Amino acid sequence: QKVVLAYSGGLDTSVILKWLEVAYGCEVVTFTADLGQGEELEPARSKAAAMGVREIFIEDLREEFVRDYVFPMFRANALYEGVYLLGTSIARPLIAKRQVEIARDVGADAVCHGATGKGNDQVRFEVAYYALQSNIKVIAPWREWDLTSRSKLIEFAEANNIPVPESKRGEPPYSMDANLLHISYEGNALEDPWVEPSEEMFQRTVSPESAPDKPTYMEIEFRKGDPVAIDGNKLSPAAILEALNTAAGENGIGRVDIVESRFVGMKSRGVYETPGGTILLTARRAMESITLDRGEMHLKDELMPKYAELLYNGFWFSPEREALQAAIDATQEYVSGLVRLKLYKGSVTVVGRKSPHSLYDQKLSSFEDDEGLYNQEDAGGFIKLQALRLRTLATNRLDGTH
Ligand code: ARG
Ligand code: SIN
Repeated sequence: QKVVLAYSGGLDTSVILKWLEVAYGCEVVTFTADLGQGEELEPARSKAAAMGVREIFIEDLREEFVRDYVFPMFRANALYEGVYLLGTSIARPLIAKRQVEIARDVGADAVCHGATGKGNDQVRFEVAYYALQSNIKVIAPWREWDLTSRSKLIEFAEANNIPVPESKRGEPPYSMDANLLHISYEGNALEDPWVEPSEEMFQRTVSPESAPDKPTYMEIEFRKGDPVAIDGNKLSPAAILEALNTAAGENGIGRVDIVESRFVGMKSRGVYETPGGTILLTARRAMESITLDRGEMHLKDELMPKYAELLYNGFWFSPEREALQAAIDATQEYVSGLVRLKLYKGSVTVVGRKSPHSLYDQKLSSFEDDEGLYNQEDAGGFIKLQALRLRTLATNRLDGTH
């Protein structure tokens, strides 16, 4: 029996690695992905090797992550419950996909992840595994083992010669998840939703109050809905997101502090830094505002919450997400052009937009002479017919019930 473990190289997944050998007696293959979490990956190799792992996979997936997951999601302008930019939700399907592919390549029959039994991530990993390979065996140690407290976990580590750094001995202040799109913080110090997080927690953004007193201007070029250049420099998808992260981070943009509804049923308090993504969403909306027809834009906006919920709940690899994606992508053909933004002390403001496909017609919308494009007299009949049913009601319901 062989299992492919999603391995970060950290203490928890190192314990899982060992536990798999002890509890299941199976050979472990490790998979460590660089999704832009900003950590060295090579230590994961030496640690796995030190634990006797023979097949070690370490892959840089940053471009694939941004190009094939983050950007398609942004085409939907996806936000969960109005605020969450889905930074963790969008990373899980890619990790799961690679795990299943590696399992096939090395002849493993099982996959394993380090998510707890109380959260969304377990659902996302496992729904994706099953969607991609129906007969895969899933091992979720956090739902199975008896290492239910920090001290038991550390005891197990020490008994099995897994080095425990001094900083990992106590309860960690938060549970974090990082990738190129965001860092999330949950749990422990954040569990009381009335208590403000401490400033030292944030890693990708300065606080708005300590951001520069001078605004930063930036131009983003879009092609078919995706950003392709910043201030005239063509960049790869991952490089674009990185550049947006830097500019937004320096200007204190992209922090949110929310209570969200987990798929498994409970409310959970989460704090997020999504600097580049916050700029991107604002810029994309501005680009769409001049290049999309009202009908297609409003339809997209109706589909968006459904799309966001599918992603949040772990249904990236589902026929309904793919059908929605196809509809959304079909609207992006003309979403090309330039958006100009002003970044200042935590805010991102659109200050300009232009496109060769702009539907904005200055002549038409101007109150000055429009050379006969629009006949104001037409509006009178248009309004009267719109109001017809309300007039009918008004004469019928003389008692004024509405
Ligand atoms: N609550 C967020 C979500 O469900 C973030 C989850 C963070 N995951 C983690 N393993 N720390 O997408
Ligand atoms: C976890 O449970 O491992 C993290 C939180 C979540 O998945 O929602």
